[in-house]
Amino acid sequence: MVNSSVKVANAPGWAKQAHTKNARLIQWVEEVAKLTKPDSIHWCDGSQEEYDALCKLLVASGTFTQLNPQKRPNSFLARSNPSDVARVEDRTFICSKTKDEAGPTNNWASPDDMRVTLNGLYDGCMRGRTMYVIPFSMGPLGSNIAQIGIELTDSAYVAVHMRIMTRMGQKVLDVLGDSDFVPAIHSVGAPLEAGQADVAWPCNDTKYIVHFPDTREIWSYGSGYGGNALLGKKCFALRIASVMARDEGWLAEHMLILGVENPQGEKYYVSAAFPSACGKTNFAMVIPPESYKGWKVTTIGDDIAWIKPDAHGNLRAINPENGLFGVAPGTNEKSNPNALKTLTANCIFTNVALTDDGDVWWEGMTDEVPAHLIDWTGQEWAPGCGRLAAHPNSRFTAPASQVPSIDPAWEDPAGVPIAAFIFGGRVSKAFPLVFQAHNWTHGVYLAATMGSEATAAAVGQAAMRRDPFAMLPFCGYNMADYWSHWLKIGRNLSHAPMIFRVNWFRKDANGKFIWPGFGENVRALEWIIDRVKGRADAVESPYGWMPRYQDLNWTGLDFPKEKYDAIARVDRAIGLVEAEEQAAYFAKFHSRLPREMELHRQMLELRLERSPEVWEPRD
Ligand code: GTP
Ligand code: SPV
Ligand code: MN
Repeated sequence: MVNSSVKVANAPGWAKQAHTKNARLIQWVEEVAKLTKPDSIHWCDGSQEEYDALCKLLVASGTFTQLNPQKRPNSFLARSNPSDVARVEDRTFICSKTKDEAGPTNNWASPDDMRVTLNGLYDGCMRGRTMYVIPFSMGPLGSNIAQIGIELTDSAYVAVHMRIMTRMGQKVLDVLGDSDFVPAIHSVGAPLEAGQADVAWPCNDTKYIVHFPDTREIWSYGSGYGGNALLGKKCFALRIASVMARDEGWLAEHMLILGVENPQGEKYYVSAAFPSACGKTNFAMVIPPESYKGWKVTTIGDDIAWIKPDAHGNLRAINPENGLFGVAPGTNEKSNPNALKTLTANCIFTNVALTDDGDVWWEGMTDEVPAHLIDWTGQEWAPGCGRLAAHPNSRFTAPASQVPSIDPAWEDPAGVPIAAFIFGGRVSKAFPLVFQAHNWTHGVYLAATMGSEATAAAVGQAAMRRDPFAMLPFCGYNMADYWSHWLKIGRNLSHAPMIFRVNWFRKDANGKFIWPGFGENVRALEWIIDRVKGRADAVESPYGWMPRYQDLNWTGLDFPKEKYDAIARVDRAIGLVEAEEQAAYFAKFHSRLPREMELHRQMLELRLERSPEVWEPRD
């Protein structure tokens, strides 16, 4: 046992000191403490007692409101500062040696300059606060695919989140031993002078979310929210892990993983990438429609997948996370009953509304809108007041083990075999409901050119943007090199999964979604797994293989052929504009662009030129 040189927190029952002999870890904690000057250091042991004590502290400091224990046992509501509600992509940096290594889609700063900036910002930034040392494992503890990180943070809100979102605490230090770890430093950037009262949600207008891919370090400053502050998630499991994956021959992806079993008992796992707030959580725990008797969908993960080729040339995937940090608005008994059941206890809600009986509410939760609420900013709220009760990016934090549809293999360290990849954005025009790539390289091209309309998950996005592989804000290196990496992975597989594109979001002339979505998405999933099995028919569209009306299962859904045509048709003029925009997009990557990308683009252009003005799937 090693005692830290800095004064430790003295709340009873807390793990106050390091139970580790890892010299690099102890030295690093001391160095950071010397720089940030916290009042005390608390090594998190990950116990229930510690979690409860931290929640109590958060209630006392006004960050948490305890929800009615009869309605929502052991659950809390937090309201953030209104300026700190989502990821800040324009403040997110990849500090590789050269700008070219970060590529045209990332913000880059020279690592030397950034270190000077950060050292200035972090000097004394934890004054008056406790620094929590949070050992965490991404992936099942002790699995050879798992990776260990240590987050140092001055936020108790982050500490309790990390216990839900990751495997956290002393058990991680025990597994770590003397080995290396990914160091991640987080500060809300709000030091307290002697006697200064704290605020409910400390943060700083200056924000930096910084990654050093070469030394695999993370430094986050100024925000306490979500992916900005829970550094195991986007910063480690995607940005840093994507660099590790490139170097070691695997994939770190912004993907859900689900299992689907048909009435014959055949089970497949698929992994799907949709951009932030575009339906991963919904799809990961989708409940098949009534008419799908004997079908079952099970959940492995809802946001991140680590995928590795095994010795037999198959891809196997694990969910590196231990919890869900899901979009609250729109979650209801119809859209996602499994999510509602997940949220019955042991959860944290951030920026949703509080009901008069001490429960939570958000837009779209119930048909009936409560007559009175306290909104996410803490103000009185009534229907028609002109404000939203919950922030559009309000979130719930819940243990994955509470998901009713959780797959029995969700913690299998070997991962599950992936039969298909699905890519989809939020596009109101152009892209059809579902289609299949011709082959792996065409699939990589389809994923690379994905686009999506803006959502509330990040601040300051353009209305419509390319979001290749749903990884635009999460790739830790040059996006063109990432595409090359995907191409290379495919070349080395003996059983490369089939690749599909979907779009649940096509709209009619009145701006309404044509496709009912949610549970009905299983109809597209059925066609996908039948294609994998070689059982389903398709015709060749300019975009790829597409089901005709009769190739999909419509039992139990009134969705006439005219409606299907409206979400399947390919408009030549719209397609040609898309192909032209792709050319401009590709040009940004100069010579790093894999040749396959431009060749597939030209083939699309040719197919469109030779297709009718409006192409529809016909016999
Ligand atoms: P991150 O956690 O931000 O990475 O996002 P996510 O992809 O997990 O998002 P989530 O599943 O929480 O998506 C939330 C939004 O997608 C809500 O506005 C849902 O109503 C909407 N959504 C999900 N599935 C569908 C669908 O099938 N059709 C339509 N129209 N909307 C959907
Ligand atoms: C996303 O924005 O893709 C999320 C939420 O999953 S956050 O963890 O805040 O990045
Ligand atoms: Mn996400």
